[in-house]
Amino acid sequence: MKLSAAVLLALVAVQAAVLLAAVPSAQAGELQVGYYNKKCKGLENVVKWNVIKALKANRRTGAALIRLLFHDCFVRGCDGSVLLDASYDNPHPEKEAPVNIGLAAFDLLEEIKAAVEKRCPGVVSCSDLLIYAARDAASILSNGHVHFDVPAGRLDGFVSKAEEAQAELPDSAHDAQKLIDNFARKNFTVEELVILSGAHSIGQGHCSSFTGRLSEPANQITPAYRNLLNYKCPQGSNPTVDNNVRDEDYDVVARFMPGFVSRVRKIPDFLDNSYYHNNLAKIVTFHSDWTLLTHKEAFGHVKEYAENGTLWDEDFAESLVKLSELPMPAGSKGEIRKKCSVINHRLY
Ligand code: HEM
Ligand SMILES: *[C@@H]1O[C@H](CO)[C@@H](O)[C@H](O)[C@H]1NC(C)=O
Ligand SMILES: *[C@@H]1O[C@H](CO)[C@@H](O)[C@H](O)[C@H]1NC(C)=O
Repeated sequence: MKLSAAVLLALVAVQAAVLLAAVPSAQAGELQVGYYNKKCKGLENVVKWNVIKALKANRRTGAALIRLLFHDCFVRGCDGSVLLDASYDNPHPEKEAPVNIGLAAFDLLEEIKAAVEKRCPGVVSCSDLLIYAARDAASILSNGHVHFDVPAGRLDGFVSKAEEAQAELPDSAHDAQKLIDNFARKNFTVEELVILSGAHSIGQGHCSSFTGRLSEPANQITPAYRNLLNYKCPQGSNPTVDNNVRDEDYDVVARFMPGFVSRVRKIPDFLDNSYYHNNLAKIVTFHSDWTLLTHKEAFGHVKEYAENGTLWDEDFAESLVKLSELPMPAGSKGEIRKKCSVINHRLY
C-alpha cells in the first residue's frame, strides 16, 4: 500500500516534469525585429491589412488596441495575459479588474489570430500579434507620424489574475507622485509617464473613471468643460465621453464651449500632441492627466510636448517600444496559444 502510493507519486512527478519540459520558458532579451520573416512569411502585412480594415469601420478600435498594449505589458510583461477569458480554472482573469473597464478590440485580435493560424499554425504568439496590431493602429491614427519596428518573439503566458492587474495598473484618480512611483516600478521615468499619457489624445472613457473631476475647482478643470461633462454623464448609465474635446459632438461643443467649435474634427481619434494643449488648458477628463501639471518636472515635459508635436511623435513611438519589451516575471513559462482568449491546455 505504502509502496504503490510512492510509485504513484513518482509517476505524477515524472508526468509533471515532462509537461513542464514541453513548455518553453520565456526569456527576456531575445526579441528581434523581423522575427517572423522566415517563420511566417507576410505575417506583418496580414496584421496590417486587418487593422486597416477594422479602423476604416471604426477608428476607436485603434485606441482600444493601444490601450491593450499598455494594459497587457504593465501586468506580467507583454504575455497576452490581458486577453484571457474567465475559465473554470481561472474565474477572475485580468479582464475582470475594475481598472480594466472599457478594454476592447479582443474580437479583432481573435480574428487576426484565426487568419494567422490558417497561414502558419502554431507559430505566432498572441502577445506579438497584439504589439503588431497596436503599432499599426498608432501609425494609422497618427497619419504615419508615429511609426516603429516591433521586436518580436514573445510567448503567451498562462497566468492572468484580476487582483494583479488592479494592483499594478495606475488609477485615474491618482496624484502625480503615485503615478510616478507606479511607472518607476516598471523602470519608466517621469518623462516617459508624460510621453505615454499623451495616448489620451484618442479614445474614450466611462464617466465612472472621472467622477471626482466633475466637482473639482475651476483651477483644476475649465468650468465650461466641467459643465459639458456634467451634461453628458447623466445621459444613460455610465456612458462614455471622448477623451479629446475636439472629438465631441459639434452641437455639444457649440453649446458649452463655443470658442472651441473650430477645433471639432470630422475624423475622430487623431493621435497627436493635442493632449498636452488640452491639459494646459485644463480640458482633460482624468484627474491623473491634470495632476501632471502639479509636478515640476512633469509640468516641464507637458509644456515641451505641447510645443513640439514632432518630438512627441518620435518619443511616443520609442516609449511604446519600451513598453512592449517589458518581460514576463523571471522563470515564467509560455506557449504559442491557438486562440488568444484561452490557454492551450490545463496546467495540472
Ligand atoms: C498614466 C496613467 C494612466 C491612467 C491612470 C489611465 C487611465 C485611463 C482610463 C481610466 C481610461 C478610460 C477607461 C474607461 O473608462 O473606459 C483610459 C483610456 C485610454 N487610455 Fe489610459 N491611462 C493611463 C495611461 C495610458 C497609457 C500609458 C496609454 C497607452 C500608451 C493609455 C492609453 C489609453 C487609451 C488609448 C484610452 C482610450 C481607450 C478606448 O477608447 O478604448 N493610457 N485610460
Ligand atoms: C528594472 O530594472 C532593474 C535593474 O536593471 C531590473 O532588475 C528589473 O527587472 C527591471 N524591472 C522591470 C519591470 O523591467
Ligand atoms: C522638435 O523636435 C524635432 C524632433 O526631435 C526636432 O528635430 C526639432 O528641431 C524640434 N523643433 C523645435 C522647434 O524645437
